[in-house]
Amino acid sequence: MPIDLKQKIYVAGHRGMVGSAIVRALKEKGYQNIVTRTHAELDLTNQAAVQAFFEKEKPDQVYLAAAKVGGIHSNNTYPAEFIYDNLMVQNNVIHQAFVSGVKKLLFLGSSCIYPKYATQPMSEDALLTGKLEPTNEPYAIAKIAGIKMCESYNRQYGKSHGIDYRSVMPTNLYGPGDNYHPENSHVIPALIRRFHEAKVSAVPEVVIWGTGTPRREFLYVDDMATASVFVMDLDKATYDQHTEPMQSQINVGFGDDVTIAELAKAVGVAVGYEGKISFDPTKPDGAPRKWMDSSRLNQLGWQPMVSLDDGLDMAYRDFVAING
Ligand SMILES: NC(=O)c1ccc[n+]([C@@H]2O[C@H](COP(=O)([O-])OP(=O)(O)OC[C@H]3O[C@@H](n4cnc5c(N)ncnc54)[C@H](OP(=O)(O)O)[C@@H]3O)[C@@H](O)[C@H]2O)c1
Repeated sequence: MPIDLKQKIYVAGHRGMVGSAIVRALKEKGYQNIVTRTHAELDLTNQAAVQAFFEKEKPDQVYLAAAKVGGIHSNNTYPAEFIYDNLMVQNNVIHQAFVSGVKKLLFLGSSCIYPKYATQPMSEDALLTGKLEPTNEPYAIAKIAGIKMCESYNRQYGKSHGIDYRSVMPTNLYGPGDNYHPENSHVIPALIRRFHEAKVSAVPEVVIWGTGTPRREFLYVDDMATASVFVMDLDKATYDQHTEPMQSQINVGFGDDVTIAELAKAVGVAVGYEGKISFDPTKPDGAPRKWMDSSRLNQLGWQPMVSLDDGLDMAYRDFVAING
């Protein structure tokens, strides 16, 4: 069936890094009827406000990219907010979407839903097979609940109401619109800020925590957005063929990973920092490797387009545009 580009699509979290990239990807594909609300206009933890919004707008599709997101420091400092806000946002949005007749919804989760000691690369069937990383367990539990909300609504109402709610689990993302906060950011924006500041102040050496040997995977956010639209627009028979009713999430990764030392070098090049990069092995490393198995999505026909070096160049240009 041809895709109806006039459908009304609500992108929740459209000012965030991923939400703004999803809006770009939808417009690029030709979708014209996109509905958005800022956090100030609509607090998604407020059930009555979310209900009123859905009653008024009655969208056809929903991309749920609004969430409370942060690095290790903020996950550790605000665990109550991470579990409460995320559960409330997704419960309100998924349930009110259902009540107002939304047929298609895409929930964005995260690779941290998989157990701390999951076999690498982490495939979808690793879900709920072991203990989570304690630092972001509250956030991960909320994300797992989001997947299970989508699956449970599909199982109970899929046939009777024709709903089709899907989930995608991105690896670490970076790109325009990232959070460059000195304490609450993820590794790439944190390194961009540190190298930029070191370059501007002509600091001769930047010391990075840990040994530099752990391996991590990174995906440019516009690739994540095209993957999201790709999964949402897959016909139901194909999606059903590649997923299970109670194991329906789809991993979205780059397919390759790098060591933190390689990443630091690449960020240094993108920023133009010419000083020394060294490592402090007395500081903790975290898991030795975190790498997604994205073969399910690749078999469906999606591949990333942006290399790490090109993505870092674009991310740094965005950082400079915002921070001068
Ligand atoms: N960034 C990554 O590396 C990464 C990796 C894997 C998965 N993801 C997932 O991708 C999704 C989007 O992440 P992101 O990186 O784009 O995060 P982000 O840049 O922080 O964007 C999240 C957006 O959600 C909004 N929001 C949060 N709480 C809200 C509330 N109560 N009511 C209304 N709006 C609210 C935020 O608005 P305010 O800023 O005004 O609060 C922000 O615009 C999340 O589900 C996240 O788990 C991200």
